[in-house]
Amino acid sequence: MNLAAIILAAGKGSRMRSSTPKVLHKIAGLPLLGHVLNLTESVRVNETRVVVGYESGQVEDYLKNRGSNAVCVRQARQLGTGDAVKCTKESLKDFDGHLMILCGDVPFLNKRSVLEMSKKISAGADLVILGFESNEPKNYGRIIINNKNQIEGVIEEKDANLAQKELTLCNSGIYYGKKSIIFSLLEEVRSDNAQLEFYLTDIIKLGSQKGLKVELCECGADETLGINCRADLATGERIFQAKLRSRFLDKGVTLIDPNTNHFSYDTKIEADTIIHPNVIIGPGVKIGRNTEIFSFSHLEGCTVKTNSQLGPFARIRPQTTIGKSVKIGNFVEVKNSIFESESKANHLSYIGDAKIGSKTNIGAGTIFCNYDGVSKHQTEIGTKTFIGSNSSLVAPLKIGSNAFIGSGSTVTKNVPENALVLGRQRQTTKPGLGKKIMDKLRNAKKKKKN
Ligand code: UD1
Ligand code: CA
Repeated sequence: MNLAAIILAAGKGSRMRSSTPKVLHKIAGLPLLGHVLNLTESVRVNETRVVVGYESGQVEDYLKNRGSNAVCVRQARQLGTGDAVKCTKESLKDFDGHLMILCGDVPFLNKRSVLEMSKKISAGADLVILGFESNEPKNYGRIIINNKNQIEGVIEEKDANLAQKELTLCNSGIYYGKKSIIFSLLEEVRSDNAQLEFYLTDIIKLGSQKGLKVELCECGADETLGINCRADLATGERIFQAKLRSRFLDKGVTLIDPNTNHFSYDTKIEADTIIHPNVIIGPGVKIGRNTEIFSFSHLEGCTVKTNSQLGPFARIRPQTTIGKSVKIGNFVEVKNSIFESESKANHLSYIGDAKIGSKTNIGAGTIFCNYDGVSKHQTEIGTKTFIGSNSSLVAPLKIGSNAFIGSGSTVTKNVPENALVLGRQRQTTKPGLGKKIMDKLRNAKKKKKN
């Protein structure tokens, strides 16, 4: 049977107090909407509609950049979740099949739960709602079950009486059913409630009143966390980070103090790599086997191959490749650069827009001057070259293999292979003059005191 996903994402998310639409706030570096799209893509839906409203341009741009084939449908005014689904009617007029309705602010739903819902529909249910038991139900609508064990409806916290507020079976906001049934029930939804909104949840009550087969699927509360405010976002981050950490531990990665490590949704780390405490890994990072990342290092958008050592306090920025057996030490920043195998930059350097050949050594304090105030320029260094400490390499620049740059040089011209470069002032030595000056200064100070 054909399946279309409708993702509700038009709300402003006022409780976030943000100018960014709620569904673009990130967990582990991925917008909430991205987490939901990962699910719809994994169950291979035929069509996806994303209902957009508040700052819709930002959501549309996100979908375009992601290369998603989801189609945006605008909801002019946020009149409620029921109205949001109704907005997709025209755009789905040629679609025939089942609908899976998801909320853009419920990011952790498991594929397993969706498949359970689909099974119930295949077995003859007309409409399935996904619920969960919670000991903190306050932020959710409650599912009401009557004494014949049938679902009677969903009541929002704001409309609930005291007895209903005691209920702990909550609505996840996820529904599955036949398209024709859902749209015909929506025609009857009214906005006579505390929030004066068209509640999608009313289709459950209407369906059961009409004698349709409305069924419940239950999942764990960890899957259905709805992100409504910054505190929820922080809770979501904590839950997702815990999942990522245990995934790496299971794969054979050593995390010395897991709770202090922060990963991204797409981080890849191979076995036998050791991550020390307080390492932060942003999006787009791949780390090979047997590598060691020491404390307080920050990595994003880079590939680190096997047997390398980074940090402590290394900063590796996007478009960087760290080859095999490379050493990047403390307070070294690397951006858009390639380090070939066994090269080193052990202390206090900035390396930007560069290619560094294998077994080359970048001395302490070396700065790659890649920016002239207007444009960025490239530096290329061959193999087994030695860059002395405190050198400035002014790009565009090519330094051949086996070259030797004397410490403190400012290198502005290309250097052929095997050459020695001393780009600094020649040293002058005046015997005895050092002590003479010091004595003079000390005497002057003494006189002043007396
Ligand atoms: C909703 C459910 C509640 C459920 C909870 C689960 C209703 C009336 N209530 O409440 O039973 O327990 O989700 O997380 O459905 N949206 C639109 N257009 C609108 C309004 C909302 O697209 O006009 C979108 C929002 O962007 C959001 C989603 O729908 O992604 C849910 O809306 P929200 O206002 O967060 O509903 P809740 O109060 O959380
Ligand atoms: Ca919500």
